[in-house]
Amino acid sequence: MDTIVIGIAGGTGSGKTTLADKLVESFGRDEVCILRHDNYYKRHDDMPFEERQKLNYDHPDAFDNELLRQHIEALKNGISVEMPIYDYKEHNRSNKVVEIKPAPVIVLEGILIFDEPSICTLMDIKVFVDTDADVRILRRIVRDVKERGRTLESVIEQYLTTVKPMHEQFVEPSKRRADIIIPNGGENAVALEMLIERVKKQLKKDNI
Ligand code: C5P
Repeated sequence: MDTIVIGIAGGTGSGKTTLADKLVESFGRDEVCILRHDNYYKRHDDMPFEERQKLNYDHPDAFDNELLRQHIEALKNGISVEMPIYDYKEHNRSNKVVEIKPAPVIVLEGILIFDEPSICTLMDIKVFVDTDADVRILRRIVRDVKERGRTLESVIEQYLTTVKPMHEQFVEPSKRRADIIIPNGGENAVALEMLIERVKKQLKKDNI
């Protein structure tokens, strides 16, 4: 099977997930599979919760990129993988995995996927979702408090100490590696349509 790997990067709360979900909607679940970089955060089983809470989750070293690389390679070769499931409330990888079956379109989503050259070279199309920082932090506050078991104070503290400085140091500069920069992520209907057409063209070309 011919595959196309689409990388979707961008800051926290930029709309990466919305864009990835819209690609699934337009091509169908059999055609698109998604690997989320967050699921490849390194395990910290021997570290107490209080310490895990304080780790810097926005630095490239926080991720097990070798496992992610192996999984992309496997999917490209038509082999299913067991993607780990991350538990944000525990600040650790859970013991659950989900089977990801190979599909013609492999979407890779995460804040720092363009920072790692060994992952970057596996992508056919690199998309950076560019959303204003104020919009991103507002979205993050709502999401982290509602879904990730955080307090408002903890989200603000983490944003100022690690999320913002790491964004400026690693995420924003990685935008230079993008092929396409999409303002406003999943809400940008014109950009989504162009991306869909581009993927369709590539898939057709590969099938000739
Ligand atoms: O979905 P999003 O792109 O926002 O996910 C990435 C964010 O998840 C990072 O900015 C990181 O700070 C956050 N994260 C967290 N706690 C963890 C692991 C990741 O707040 N234990």
